[in-house]
Amino acid sequence: RRLGRTRAVLPGEIGVRPAPGTLRQSLIVPTYNERDNVPALLARLAAALPHDDTEIVFVDDSTDGTPEVIEALAADYPIAITVHHRENGAGGLGGAVVEGMRIARGEWIVVMDADLQHPPEIVPDLIAAGLRDGADLVVGSRYAHGGNTGGLADGYRRLVSRGSTLLVKTLFRNHLLSVSDPMSGLFAIRSSSLDASSLRPLGYKILLELIVRNRPGRIVEVPYGFQARHAGESKSTAAEGIRFLKHVGVLRFGLARLRMLAFALIGLSGLLPNQAVLWALLHLTDMHYAAAAVAANVVAVGWNFVLTDTLLYRNHRRSGLVSRSARFFLMGNADLLLRIPMLTLLVSGLHLGVLAGNLLTLVASFVVRFLISDRLIYRA
Ligand code: GDD
Ligand code: MN
Repeated sequence: RRLGRTRAVLPGEIGVRPAPGTLRQSLIVPTYNERDNVPALLARLAAALPHDDTEIVFVDDSTDGTPEVIEALAADYPIAITVHHRENGAGGLGGAVVEGMRIARGEWIVVMDADLQHPPEIVPDLIAAGLRDGADLVVGSRYAHGGNTGGLADGYRRLVSRGSTLLVKTLFRNHLLSVSDPMSGLFAIRSSSLDASSLRPLGYKILLELIVRNRPGRIVEVPYGFQARHAGESKSTAAEGIRFLKHVGVLRFGLARLRMLAFALIGLSGLLPNQAVLWALLHLTDMHYAAAAVAANVVAVGWNFVLTDTLLYRNHRRSGLVSRSARFFLMGNADLLLRIPMLTLLVSGLHLGVLAGNLLTLVASFVVRFLISDRLIYRA
């Protein structure tokens, strides 16, 4: 049985959902196939938190019956427990958390993983620290003094964690001055400091998204020991790593400039097939060098087209493959009109090597095109 929309799963007959505005805290727990973790999680949360001013909101993308398990357990606890089962999984983990934020009603919104890597008993400490220090955001930190990454399975994951933390600390220096663990999945935010509608989550790093876009005023940290996963396996994949890099890029540069940067990098990568094909044609055939340069360019433009079309515009195609590639090839080979005469001058006139000459014309074409767009199309 599927649970369609948001539904409240209320405790037995006595269960009265607290009136809006009277809740101290809403826990948001994203779940993706955590059937074997939710029983222990609920038991420990219920033991650690006051029942009458807490709600627990599960935002679920599972296919393993996790919502049904939660529903069956909810009757055992005199706490308002809600399962919001999503149909499309938009935005992954971060998208789920933001959906939970939209329906949460507590004064404090606490985000926590379902797999018990975040000790549930720390929730009261997060809120106490927030109240004591007048903070808008309290970050559960593995890297603050007293915290640890004990539960990070292996050296590889530790390295990835350290590396990505360093990357975002560098890219978002001003936002993260007082945050030692911006990749943390455990935090509490005062709902008055939260603007969920401005968030554009993309994958796992919802805290980073929140800090950069909402700029909470005062941020404090509470150290904690990251535990080993209770049951099951991490849902993070290599694709999640790519999504993280894209998320960081969008946050830092904006989508439009990130695309332009990627476009430039793909263009740059075309130098490789261009020179390689030219070398091969010169050494393996007796083609004239100018014809070989044309052929090499066509191959390089093909390389650029495949990368651009799949990596950059996969979801933005407006016409068929033939039409897209024809226009791309026309644009990509247009500069041959300038480059071939220049190559002839360099090679036949000045006796430069063909590969060196080809490279020079490519660089020149790049500079000319840059100057045209920089001076004539845009004005920086
Ligand atoms: N609803 C939903 N949708 N939940 C998801 C999704 C999704 O697409 N992907 C993951 N989750 C849930 C999991 O079920 C779990 O409760 C929580 O999000 C964390 O997922 P894990 O797969 O256990 O993540 P992790 O342990 O690799 O990473 C966690 O720790 C990192 C620190 O090392 C996360 O909290 C990361 O954000 C954090 O950086
Ligand atoms: Mn985990």
